[in-house]
Amino acid sequence: MTDAPLESGRPIRVLFVCLGNICRSPLAEGVLIHLCHKAGVEARLNVDSAGTCSWHVGEPPDARAIEVASRRGVSLQGSARSVRPEDFAKFDLMLAMDRDNLRHLEKERARFGESTRIALLREFDPDSAGDLDVPDPYSGGPSEFDLVFDLVHRSCTALLGELLDPQIPCELPPAFLREDDP
Ligand code: 4NP
Repeated sequence: MTDAPLESGRPIRVLFVCLGNICRSPLAEGVLIHLCHKAGVEARLNVDSAGTCSWHVGEPPDARAIEVASRRGVSLQGSARSVRPEDFAKFDLMLAMDRDNLRHLEKERARFGESTRIALLREFDPDSAGDLDVPDPYSGGPSEFDLVFDLVHRSCTALLGELLDPQIPCELPPAFLREDDP
């Protein structure tokens, strides 16, 4: 990664990652974009999402994800894609929905020799009580999608607060600095 976002004034680039890129990560992408619009800071962040598998590439978000989002005033965009090698150089932050996604990203980051920051989205959830996975809702019903929406909304609200905190003078908030980071 060449130019640091806060020094260069360019947007912070955030990629949400789940397995299929049709349920959880498009919801996180839609929610964070929605929160940015509400706060008038859409120019400060670039937000995208991707999956660790290619099963649903090209498909729109799952109808159940679109439904829960629209009920809560959020529209979902884009079509599914897999994580690409170049994502590890392009994005400042890659936020995984669960520990399987996280392990996948950490392995791939090592393979491509990049130092992008990788974390679990729910590391930002103030009410996580130590449960850091956003559960996979694919085989569930509407209540599973409602739960995913709530977890994602709460986590993204806290994430945005940290990203925009003017009191934090470093390039990225300390919460993104993991022990194994350079
Ligand atoms: P996502 O959910 O990872 O949140 O997009 C899933 C989507 C599809 C499948 C599993 C999870 N699938 O098995 O096809």
